Amino acid sequence: MKKIIITGGAGFIGSHVVRRFVTRYPDYEVINLDKLTYAGNLANLRDIEDRPNYRFVKGDITDTVFLDELFAAERPAAVIHLAAESHVDRSISSPLEFVLTNVVGTVNLLNAAKKHWEGEYDTHRFYHVSTDEVYGALGDTGMFTEETRYDPHSPYSASKASSDHFVRAYHDTYGLDTVISNCSNNYGSFHFPEKLIPLAINNIKNKRPVPVYGKGENIRDWLWVEDHARAIDVIFHGAASGETYNIGGHNEWKNIDLIQLLCGIMDKKLGRADGESARLITFVKDRAGHDLRYAIDATRLKQDLGWEPSLQFEEGLEKTVDWYLANEAWLQDVTSGHYQQYYAEQYGG
Ligand code: NAD
Ligand code: TYD
Repeated sequence: MKKIIITGGAGFIGSHVVRRFVTRYPDYEVINLDKLTYAGNLANLRDIEDRPNYRFVKGDITDTVFLDELFAAERPAAVIHLAAESHVDRSISSPLEFVLTNVVGTVNLLNAAKKHWEGEYDTHRFYHVSTDEVYGALGDTGMFTEETRYDPHSPYSASKASSDHFVRAYHDTYGLDTVISNCSNNYGSFHFPEKLIPLAINNIKNKRPVPVYGKGENIRDWLWVEDHARAIDVIFHGAASGETYNIGGHNEWKNIDLIQLLCGIMDKKLGRADGESARLITFVKDRAGHDLRYAIDATRLKQDLGWEPSLQFEEGLEKTVDWYLANEAWLQDVTSGHYQQYYAEQYGG
């Protein structure tokens, strides 16, 4: 029985990673360690919560005593670390929370691994899940490779860059077996509706304005979340110690073109006239320090481990819309309470 702690397993990507490991590897014991912030939701894992090889532990990675006791009691063989504050706009209004969770929390986990795995580093693995945003912004051409210089611009990306550096430092200094992956923007089910795609789906559905920052010219490289979870699986099992992999969809979209495509899909699904949803598009004040373009070169991952994205974007987006329309209760639940206050502060009403 191999015991793995997955941090942030109640969040968007973490819940897909937990589901994949629990269902695919019945001989692994998966412990989902999550604080359940506004972004964490155990409803994301209802379908697997009764599996014998799954357990949830509520806890905070900024709490060193808790981590020490957990590692001593559970003696995990590996950590897959996804817990983080993940939203750029929130990092602009509350940068310190991002330093605490993303930087200090990651170092706390590294310290627990270093202490409890001492003398056995080669049989234990620390997998750190990171973002392409550490590389900064691209102009009209080029792609991020694993050799691209770090150049983060937002407090979020600066905190993730810092955590990546600490993970590498623990590999180089103490010999911990570490792996890092840097992935592009994900989309799919259980995505919290503060991020562009689920926020737009929710607003289009409710005939509310769809806020597009600036002129909608910014470009993101979108990957279906289940393809990311599969990439994490192959990297976790196949990467050499100290290795880094970029993960991306080869799927660049200008925000405004993406929203237009989404509006067209929603018109069809909701039986609206062509162009009706697009009338909700509202250009709003641009995000401060808004990175122009992200694009990932995932050649190394394909060459070394054979991973490629499985889904065309149009198909994935339609599947995603179908999921949100079929899961009204989930959406209602996560958009009640604090979400209303966040929305009012971010978008003014
Ligand atoms: P998310 O915000 O949906 O989930 C984060 C999870 O971490 C939540 O369940 C939350 O409760 C938990 N958490 C937060 N603070 C915690 C703490 N102090 N202790 C324990 N748990 C805590 O995030 P996501 O979009 O699923 O992203 C997961 C990881 O993947 C993050 O590290 C993020 O940087 C990275 N990533 C995300 C994307 C993306 O497009 N969303 C792309 C690349 C990389
Ligand atoms: P987001 O989903 O927040 O991801 P990230 O900032 O990590 O890439 O935003 C994706 C893109 O959409 C980004 O260019 C900002 C833009 N955006 C909007 O235009 N309007 C919105 O309401 C949000 C949340 C994002």
